[in-house]
Amino acid sequence: MYLSKIELTNYRNYSKLRVKLDPNINIFIGNNAQGKTNILESIYVLALTKSHRYGVENNLIRKEMLACRIKGTIKEEKKIKDLQFVLTNKSEKKVMVNDKEVKKISDYIFNMKVIMFCPDDLEMIKGSPAFRRNFMNIEISQLFQFYAQYLNEYNKILKNRNEYLKLLNMNQYTDLRYLEILNDKLVEKAVFVYTCRKRYMDFIGAIIGDIYEKISGLSGLTVRYENNVDLVSYDEDEIRTKFMEKLTKNQKREMLQGTTLYGPHRDDFTFFLVDDDLKVYGSEGQKRLAIIAFKLAEVQVFYQLLNTTPILLLDDIFSELDVKKRNRLIACLPSDIQIIITTTDLKNINRKLVEKAKVFVVDQGKITEKVGDNNGNGRKGRRNI
Ligand SMILES: Nc1ncnc2c1ncn2[C@@H]1O[C@H](COP(=O)(O)OP(=O)(O)O)[C@@H](O)[C@H]1O
Ligand SMILES: [Mg+2]
Repeated sequence: MYLSKIELTNYRNYSKLRVKLDPNINIFIGNNAQGKTNILESIYVLALTKSHRYGVENNLIRKEMLACRIKGTIKEEKKIKDLQFVLTNKSEKKVMVNDKEVKKISDYIFNMKVIMFCPDDLEMIKGSPAFRRNFMNIEISQLFQFYAQYLNEYNKILKNRNEYLKLLNMNQYTDLRYLEILNDKLVEKAVFVYTCRKRYMDFIGAIIGDIYEKISGLSGLTVRYENNVDLVSYDEDEIRTKFMEKLTKNQKREMLQGTTLYGPHRDDFTFFLVDDDLKVYGSEGQKRLAIIAFKLAEVQVFYQLLNTTPILLLDDIFSELDVKKRNRLIACLPSDIQIIITTTDLKNINRKLVEKAKVFVVDQGKITEKVGDNNGNGRKGRRNI
């Protein structure tokens, strides 16, 4: 799938922008703080209705404006879809497919698939389990259609259950029937969440080692899905039984602490290089490459599970890699995929890639297409778009 055009209105530092994108390689070049990341972010928001920048939702609207709009056209084989995202300064969100409003965000986000690579990704190793769960949830909601909905329902029941556990704790209630009802509901939703997460992590786990070896030259990278119900299979009955056992066995402890101690809301995952936890023992470079390998593995998961190629958003990631690693990374990118890259300097990007690319210059929220020789040799020209 690819994004053929994007249109922004009052989005961050863009008042009005229209860009026609290449189905294959696109490069946005410009100095710092000109709006390169904002472009990639807007594409991400169009797909997922949220920014990839953790916790910055309120700044998406251009300063002093009342609302922002992102419009884009997605093409896949013969199918075309017009997507639209609107956010107001009262935090009202509206999403549309072919000009028809889609009420459930969880339905909407299944339309457009993106994978973002950005400098903040290091948080996937250095950051909190909550960061990794958030990441996992976003990715999986693009892969399994009902995941986001089940997860929302799980979280609602979890909230009720935690409130009830607190009540039980304070009032010394003896009637536990309501807790049992909540247990049944919680377990039912958790089974779905767990199976999706396990499938996703198993897919990644099966290929990440090979990809990492290709870009780093090192073997032995694995990723471990950690959950507190000891998941080993996809068997729903088995997962149901295991989780229910944890809840019943730990009921007293949970009442005492007034919170649910077991379940997908406590999940995490860890990167290992052979036996070493990368968070503790990995170098900065190893961590970066492990995350890149993870995302490249995701590309294959999209292909295997949905028979589609996601749109890759690469935010200034080449400058952090040496030439050898850059080239190895480029060699791992599928050739028939749309890639949108930002950089401050074309020299950071493999020449062959630049030659194939549509190149845009970003300057204070204005974009012009760079035509002619992209290598900085000979004649250069610019054309307004
Ligand atoms: N809501 C907003 N309204 C206006 N300008 C904004 C808003 N949010 C961010 N900006 C501006 O966007 C610029 C940063 O854009 P960004 O895409 O991160 O730059 P870069 O080209 O370095 O990736 C800054 O100049 C910042 O002031
Ligand atoms: Mg940037």
